[in-house]
Amino acid sequence: MDWNSSLIKDLEWSDKIINITGKQKVADEIAAKVKDGDTLGVGSGSTSYLALIAIANRIKAEKLDVKAIPTSLEISMFCSKLGVPLTTLYENKPDWLFDGADEVDPNNSLIKGRGGAMFKEKLLLSSSAVRYIIVDESKIVTKLGANFPVPIEVFPQALLYVEKELKQLGATSIVLRPAKGKDGSIISENGNLILDCKFEDIGITMEKDIKLITGVIESGLFIGYNPTILMAANN
Ligand code: 5RP
Repeated sequence: MDWNSSLIKDLEWSDKIINITGKQKVADEIAAKVKDGDTLGVGSGSTSYLALIAIANRIKAEKLDVKAIPTSLEISMFCSKLGVPLTTLYENKPDWLFDGADEVDPNNSLIKGRGGAMFKEKLLLSSSAVRYIIVDESKIVTKLGANFPVPIEVFPQALLYVEKELKQLGATSIVLRPAKGKDGSIISENGNLILDCKFEDIGITMEKDIKLITGVIESGLFIGYNPTILMAANN
C-alpha cells in the first residue's frame, strides 16, 4: 500500500550548497569507491548528500547490492528518497564510512557538527575501520577552531553545570545554538541542546576533557581518528 504522499519524494536540500564544484568532485570520487556488497556509513551535510546522490545513481545503473547506515534523520530520509536500502548497526558493521567536516587540521583532526549530528557521526566513524572525510579546500585550517566553534551536545538539565565546566576548560565563548524554524534553541535528534564553544587553544586532550564532563553527550572534536582526507579544489 502507498502513503500517497510526496514529502519524501520531493525532499530537497534545505539550504544553498556553497562551494558546490569542489564538493561535487569529492562526491564523485567517493561514489567511485563503492563495491557490490558494501555496507556504508553515510555522513551528514551537503557534501555527503551529493555523494549519496552519486552512489544512488551507481546503485541504480549497475544494480549494486549496497546498504547504508545513516548518521542523521535527514540523511536517512534522503536514502529513502534515492532508493538506497537502509540498515542499522545491530545488523551490520560498516565496511567503510564517508562524511564531511567543518575543519580539518594538519594532523587530520576535525571539527564537525554544524548540522548537529556529531553523536551519530562519531559513532559511525568509530564503528568503521576505513574512514573517508570529504571536503572542499575551504575546510582546511592550520589550527582547529580557526573558523568554527566546537559544538557540544548537552543533556538539557546539565546545561548550566556543563557551561561552568567548559569555562574551567578555557572556553572563551559559549552560545546556546538557536533553532531555525522553531522558537528557542535547537533540539538534537537525541532530544538534547547544543552549545557552540570557542577556545583559545584546542590541545590534544581537549576532546576527552570535554567528554568527561557529566551531561556532555558528545562533542564535534574528532582528534586522532586518522581518517583519509579527500580534498577537492573549488575551481
Ligand atoms: C554535520 C557535519 C557536516 O559533515 C559538516 O558540517 C560539513 O557539512 P557540508 O558538507 O555541508 O559543508 O559535521 O553535522
